[in-house]
Amino acid sequence: MNYLIGIDVGTSATKTVLFDEKGQVVASASREYPLYQPDNGWAEQKPEDWRDAVLETISQVVKESKVSKDEVKGIGLSGQMHGLVMLDEKNEVIRPSIIWCDQRTGAEVEDMLSIMPRERWIEITANPPLTGWTAAKILWVKKNEPENYSRCRHILLPKDYIRFVLTGNYATEVSDASGMQLLDVPGRCWSEEVLEKLDIDPALLGKVYESCEVTGTVLPEIAERTGLSDGTKVVGGAGDNAAAAVGTGVVKDGTAFTTIGTSGVVFAHSSQVTIDPKGRVHTCCCAVPGAWHVMGVTQGAGLSLKWFKDQFCGDYVKEAEKEKIDVYDIINKEVAKVEAGSGRLLYLPYLMGERTPHLDPDCRGVFFGLSAIHTRAHMLRAVMEGVSYSLSDCNDILKEMGILVDQMMACGGGGKSPVWRQMLADMYQCGVKTVAQTEGPALGVAILAGVGCGLYESVESACEALIYEDKSTEPDAEKAEKYENYHQLYKKLYEDLKGSYKILSGL
Ligand code: XUL
Repeated sequence: MNYLIGIDVGTSATKTVLFDEKGQVVASASREYPLYQPDNGWAEQKPEDWRDAVLETISQVVKESKVSKDEVKGIGLSGQMHGLVMLDEKNEVIRPSIIWCDQRTGAEVEDMLSIMPRERWIEITANPPLTGWTAAKILWVKKNEPENYSRCRHILLPKDYIRFVLTGNYATEVSDASGMQLLDVPGRCWSEEVLEKLDIDPALLGKVYESCEVTGTVLPEIAERTGLSDGTKVVGGAGDNAAAAVGTGVVKDGTAFTTIGTSGVVFAHSSQVTIDPKGRVHTCCCAVPGAWHVMGVTQGAGLSLKWFKDQFCGDYVKEAEKEKIDVYDIINKEVAKVEAGSGRLLYLPYLMGERTPHLDPDCRGVFFGLSAIHTRAHMLRAVMEGVSYSLSDCNDILKEMGILVDQMMACGGGGKSPVWRQMLADMYQCGVKTVAQTEGPALGVAILAGVGCGLYESVESACEALIYEDKSTEPDAEKAEKYENYHQLYKKLYEDLKGSYKILSGL
């Protein structure tokens, strides 16, 4: 039997899964690590934490699976997008990675717009300059930490730093590179024009591959440390969303998914380069060679629920530990007891600013309508509904762009919650399905590794053979109408508060 490993370097943890060639999980391991917030709206992680988590989890799955190392044919890498990893000439990490949800680069986005018109940015990179994307972060380091920038010899994305650790190669692939804002997205290669305009030396960047191409093999010292064979191939892999698409079978026109992880994303496959002229949703290369995707992003999706749980649900956490159950199962039960609309309580999920549809680094979270009647369960439900209104905004823009979706999947941690899936179905007013395979991005990149190693003919045919539907959640017309009224108010609240957010950010 042949085996494949999928690794997902997420924001809360790294998950490593060893699959057999039929896509069945043989062994799985995960390691958590901290998120550092040195200032309001800033977010950093240590690449060394990702590295340690990856090496430990690979060793664990290889050991637990008891498969012969030569049978592990390939590794696929997936991870949080947009993070900036800088290495010096000795390949040491220069500073903590400024990650995807960091919002410190408002001024650098303005600088980018003064260097090149918005329309040209969209023409080349398929997106307007964005605070969370890598280019603005590079400019921030250049401006604020010139000594660090002058020592920088290599710029890598989070999962591509792991590739360097595993193979010694500096490389990336089209889906994740699309989120750096340095790639010619229609042409699937670095943009000389952008690099020149931003004065970024192309030698700092790795080689760009397609997602299922082989980018190197595991180094002997890593093989020895992890129990892998040093012949094991490492393919391009994909950014976490493009990887989740493969892992849920979203690889052809008409298919889409909503994922609720730390961020929330509504993602639709597109065989053409389809761009929102207003830049509210992102267009990126996808992991299927020669295709793209469009995605809207909620910055604080699972992040909002985790924040609320960490701050206010210590007793649930203790209960879950005692009963050996998932704390989110307790939360789901509580939330299901509250009516749709959370008793006239609304939550705006802008803990880390917002991307779709506002592109606003300064907005922040709000509970609106708090009354003495409300309990913690109302607040929990309001958080889940607020995130769902934001995802609904993403879905509405895809519809406005004429992207037809006849299959909406749900995945990520939040996608496992029946109550959250029902909210999505009611608000989108369409059925929301899950697939039986719940490993999402890790399965997606294991499939890409299988294609790269010649085990599968194509990404599409592998998905067809390995992935199948599980549950379907249908919309409830009465709730849909109720949510629609709340959603209108939710949208108005942002408009009403827009000016106040700016004042707040200047205090
Ligand atoms: C996508 C995005 C997030 C991260 C973290 O643009 O920023 O989805 O990839 O998961």
